[in-house]
Amino acid sequence: MGLFESLYDPMMKPLEWMGVQKWRQLVISKAHGRILEIGAGSGNNFVFYPKGAVVYALEPSPLLRQKATEKIPENTNFTLIDGIAEQLPFADESFDTVVSTLVLCSVNDLEQSIREMQRVLKSGGRLLLLEHVALKQPLGFALQTAINPAWKRMFGNCHLNRQTAITVQKYFPNVHEIPFLGELVVHLDATKTG
Ligand SMILES: C[S@@+](CC[C@H](N)C(=O)[O-])C[C@H]1O[C@@H](n2cnc3c(N)ncnc32)[C@H](O)[C@@H]1O
Repeated sequence: MGLFESLYDPMMKPLEWMGVQKWRQLVISKAHGRILEIGAGSGNNFVFYPKGAVVYALEPSPLLRQKATEKIPENTNFTLIDGIAEQLPFADESFDTVVSTLVLCSVNDLEQSIREMQRVLKSGGRLLLLEHVALKQPLGFALQTAINPAWKRMFGNCHLNRQTAITVQKYFPNVHEIPFLGELVVHLDATKTG
């Protein structure tokens, strides 16, 4: 995954200008309290956290963690940690907000990752996701599925055809879906109940 990690920021630059940056801003503006960001990558969300934010940022890649360190804004309280979504190194009910952007496409176990997000959220806590997902339109989905094996190998295990919203709904029945780019990208916003 070394090449993908090195090229991630330059590859994302045009996409950031085309809309990703605006979506990041929307997602992060809803984060509050003690925040966990999972798969923080090179820290492209960091600039959007408000002054004084308390953020634990988890990222398994040492190279991306190093890049992320350089993007920590002043007057914030960031802790960068090694770890994976499937096994979060935190106690139950320890965060007010869990954020993750463009990560659930790449994890090895989608359902276990969402189960872990639910476990570490406090009751009433907020889950904020931004993901590209499987298209609902059958032809589009078939195309995504056909390209998927090669895509995964080229782009750090990124899956094009994950039914992320359906899996999130199993653990967060009240999830609200905001589509972008004709439903290719979604912002999923959910609250932990009970
Ligand atoms: C496409 S990048 C997105 C990075 C960043 N969140 C962003 O929005 O720019 C995918 C990220 O997920 C991380 N990742 C891959 N598998 C993971 C896992 N099992 N748990 C947590 N992060 C993971 C990668 O290291 C990478 O930083």
